[in-house]
Amino acid sequence: MNDFYDSEMAAQQERMARTEDMMRQRSEHMRVLSPKSGEKILELGSGNGIFARELADRVGSGGRVIGLDPSEAILEMARHICPQVDFIQGDAQDLPFDDQSFDAVAGAQVFCFLTDVDRALAETYRVLKPGGRVVILDTDWDTLVWRNRHPELMARVMDAYKAVYADAYLPRTLPHRLSQAGFSDIKVESFVVLNRGLGEETYARQTMGFATSIMEGAPEFSKEEQARWLEDQEQLERDGGVFFSLNRYILSGNK
Ligand SMILES: C[S@@+](CC[C@H](N)C(=O)[O-])C[C@H]1O[C@@H](n2cnc3c(N)ncnc32)[C@H](O)[C@@H]1O
Repeated sequence: MNDFYDSEMAAQQERMARTEDMMRQRSEHMRVLSPKSGEKILELGSGNGIFARELADRVGSGGRVIGLDPSEAILEMARHICPQVDFIQGDAQDLPFDDQSFDAVAGAQVFCFLTDVDRALAETYRVLKPGGRVVILDTDWDTLVWRNRHPELMARVMDAYKAVYADAYLPRTLPHRLSQAGFSDIKVESFVVLNRGLGEETYARQTMGFATSIMEGAPEFSKEEQARWLEDQEQLERDGGVFFSLNRYILSGNK
């Protein structure tokens, strides 16, 4: 996990956060979280800090936002982007906070990396105040429909891609697990990332970048296979034939 997020990947993540698809993701997450002035909010796996910065604007000077992430390289980037937020090194599965400290806990694309999701949910429950809320945004990679004219190669590429996650299919189990952790009023929403081209602003283009890095580091992919996979995407782009569709899920619950 930490090897995956070296400083080059951190810079790539920062560029990705500025794309239209990522801006929409943060806006959907924000809508469900619905932060209020004066609240104290914890963001797990705060990454580049851009969502935390938006949260800080919403809670105002009377509130407080803390971003937590295990990666010192990522925390450095976040502190640079968002000096008004406290970024703390830590693990979502073992939170360095007192019981009942926060009005809300948020996490986007982070629970999928955790080896013990139930422990992280128990920790989240512990640090929330009574009536506090959790909002988790994550992806089920079984919902990916991504055209490539080499389907067997595509399947292998996506298997390697999904292996980066501890659980690439997490959202389907989260409602039940949130309930088991003690949360009530559990809600699930979804939205689709849908790209018909590979412009720099698309999540499809970003996913291509991640997939290419993964293939380059995986000996089971020959140079010829890497080139064949990429060339098919670029040819589809030239022909207007790109199709990339992926569901995001937003799960919420109350303590
Ligand atoms: C895909 S990034 C998402 C970043 C950010 N939430 C966003 O949506 O842009 C996953 C983040 O989770 C962090 N992470 C990985 N394992 C973690 C853990 N055990 N506890 C907290 N964060 C973790 C990574 O360092 C990384 O910043």
